[in-house]
Amino acid sequence: MDLPRPGMAGLLTRVSCEIKADVRAARERDPAAQGVSTLEILTSWAGVQALLAHRVAHALHGAGVPLLPGAIAYLTRSVTGVEIHPAAKIGPELFIDHGSGVVIGETAEIGRRATLYQGVTLGGTGFQRGKRHPSLGDNVTVGSGAKLLGPISVGDGAKIGANTVVVEDVPPGSTVVGNPGHLVKVEGQRVEGPDADWIHLPDPIAEAIKSLSERIGRLEERIAELDGGDPPRFAEGEMRPRTGRSSAGG
Ligand SMILES: CC(C)(COP(=O)(O)OP(=O)(O)OC[C@H]1O[C@@H](n2cnc3c(N)ncnc32)[C@H](O)[C@@H]1OP(=O)(O)O)[C@@H](O)C(=O)NCCC(=O)NCCS
Repeated sequence: MDLPRPGMAGLLTRVSCEIKADVRAARERDPAAQGVSTLEILTSWAGVQALLAHRVAHALHGAGVPLLPGAIAYLTRSVTGVEIHPAAKIGPELFIDHGSGVVIGETAEIGRRATLYQGVTLGGTGFQRGKRHPSLGDNVTVGSGAKLLGPISVGDGAKIGANTVVVEDVPPGSTVVGNPGHLVKVEGQRVEGPDADWIHLPDPIAEAIKSLSERIGRLEERIAELDGGDPPRFAEGEMRPRTGRSSAGG
């Protein structure tokens, strides 16, 4: 994605084309932007504003202008809640839905037509230097609150579920969910196999509490028998057998 340094006229043309494509992306991918004028999108879509400011900051950064790119990024974060380092390489037609809380690190790279929801972090894992942020391919979707950490690659067309934490490469066309992020689909097909079900994991702590609760119940019944009284009833809020889907894992 390294581009040769163009002159000022070339730079303006490039930035203006990128901005038009970004506004088009918002209109195409945000149902709330249907029938909304370009002016309204530019004035009230925080994700679009952040991206447009980044296009300018990135071009200035590439042209070697000091201070200004960082100042633009700082002001943009204050206004939109989206922090994009001026050096981050972002392909055309990125759409940042809602904006707030998105962080895109210095060495992050994003391909064409990606979609990021609010609260997404493309960050590093620690204090290492050099390439330390994720690289996203084309047509990648990253759900709200997802954290992608380290110099990992996310393949074209991959989907990252909301609140997922990803620290390893993601194959193209796959869906990854959970913490730690794990594959649930590849090319639209569910991943099969003994380790594939991360959603319905056993919960050892809940099992232990349930077993202790049952033992206490039996002891209380036995005491009641010896005292000649009635066996105790469940009080309001006391643990009862739980039915339905496990909240563990996923
Ligand atoms: C991951 C996502 C993109 C769906 O991708 P998909 O390939 O269509 O996958 P599916 O919906 O078929 O889900 C596959 C499995 O993962 C589970 N899953 C989906 N999203 C999940 C998530 N964020 N966290 C945990 N599990 C999730 C599903 O329950 C399903 O489990 P099952 O196999 O037991 O039924 C979508 O669920 C998601 O998280 N989108 C982000 C949307 C968002 O952030 N919106 C914010 C709007 S403001």
